Amino acid sequence: MLKGKKILIGVTGSIAAYKIPILIRLLIKEGAEVKVILTDAAKDFVTPLTLSTLSGNPVQSEFFEKTDGTWNSHVDLGNWADLYLLAPVSANTMGKLANGMADNLLSATYLAAKCPVFFAPAMDVDMYNHPSTSKNINQLKTFGNILVEPEEGELASGLYGAGRMQEPEKIIKILDSFFQKKKDFDKVKVLISAGPTYEAIDPVRFIGNFSTGQMGYALANEFSKRGAIVELVSGPVNLKIDSENVNITNVTSAAEMYNACLSAFSQVNIAIMSAAVADYTPERQQKQKIKKQAGSLTIKLQKTKDILKELGNNKRKDQYLVGFALETENEFENAKAKLKNKKLDLIVLNSLQDKGAGFGYSTNKITLLDNKGDIDQFELKSKSEVAKDIADKISSTYKMKN
Ligand code: CTP
Repeated sequence: MLKGKKILIGVTGSIAAYKIPILIRLLIKEGAEVKVILTDAAKDFVTPLTLSTLSGNPVQSEFFEKTDGTWNSHVDLGNWADLYLLAPVSANTMGKLANGMADNLLSATYLAAKCPVFFAPAMDVDMYNHPSTSKNINQLKTFGNILVEPEEGELASGLYGAGRMQEPEKIIKILDSFFQKKKDFDKVKVLISAGPTYEAIDPVRFIGNFSTGQMGYALANEFSKRGAIVELVSGPVNLKIDSENVNITNVTSAAEMYNACLSAFSQVNIAIMSAAVADYTPERQQKQKIKKQAGSLTIKLQKTKDILKELGNNKRKDQYLVGFALETENEFENAKAKLKNKKLDLIVLNSLQDKGAGFGYSTNKITLLDNKGDIDQFELKSKSEVAKDIADKISSTYKMKN
């Protein structure tokens, strides 16, 4: 599975850098292409010559080559890689990455990289257990970066505990299973709704909500990365999709979203309705701008059609339907009721009582409830990690159904 994969390794100053030549040999043996970035501190532990010889590519550590002034573009390196592995990553570099600092080629490439990032810390046990290190690790995890957890063992200091970077053989296994997992929705057709809807009152005003569409777009990215063909029906948002195989239909109102979703539904295998659809729309849309008048203004609203419910009513046995429930009270009861009433296979519960969850945040905290009665609760994570958890759950339950 690593054959042909482009792996960029970022090495920082840690004694565990001695494991990197072995890791590169194993990656090359698996058929991967490898490039390496070294920080200055890393050069005290492993030489550029060793790494360039083993990887078959020049090792880079400066923004400019001092000899001929060639630019080592961090953007190009980030775009080149299918995966960026930071190993070993020191406490110091994690602190920089967690805070958006880009003072060397390794950290600038981290900010520019669009590919998945894995990080394998290595340090002494007390440094590893320091609250500041834990905070930085958690911060990187909320960005969607994947921790290669260090193991316990003898450390270079002579102490014993957590902080030893994983062995190269173990890292190879982790990377391999990551790439294998990625194609578990190969050619599966997935309909996703995302973002808010705007219900026009007159030519210049509307009723909307605070949804930014981040969750739905993260789902579209995740499914497309894993091989799915995604039909994304999106309300008005300021987001872009950077994956292949995503066809976007832009809509504004709940009625337009209803039409787009209903017409796509019969051709898909899985539908995930993550949009925050308006439940009510003005009974009449004024042709001219409403003028200010003395006294109050009443706008009569009528119910919109429930898209998810309609999909549930039209669902074939082989189709898998997922809804979201955004609740502020009696979360479980309300989510279970929606799961049943809308004939869903799975519902994703967000509670607004959880800090960092809901509209506008880049993080989310979800509970998954399926129609077999299984309940999975997750921690607060970045929306891209949440999308992975949802896709993992669908991957196992959709396959059981079909
Ligand atoms: N939904 C939909 N069409 C609507 C309203 C909601 O498809 N007109 C979908 C949402 O995309 C979401 C789910 O229904 O997947 C639940 O939305 P939510 O607003 O939590 O629930 P409602 O059914 O609207 O009920 P309530 O507002 O009373 O909680």
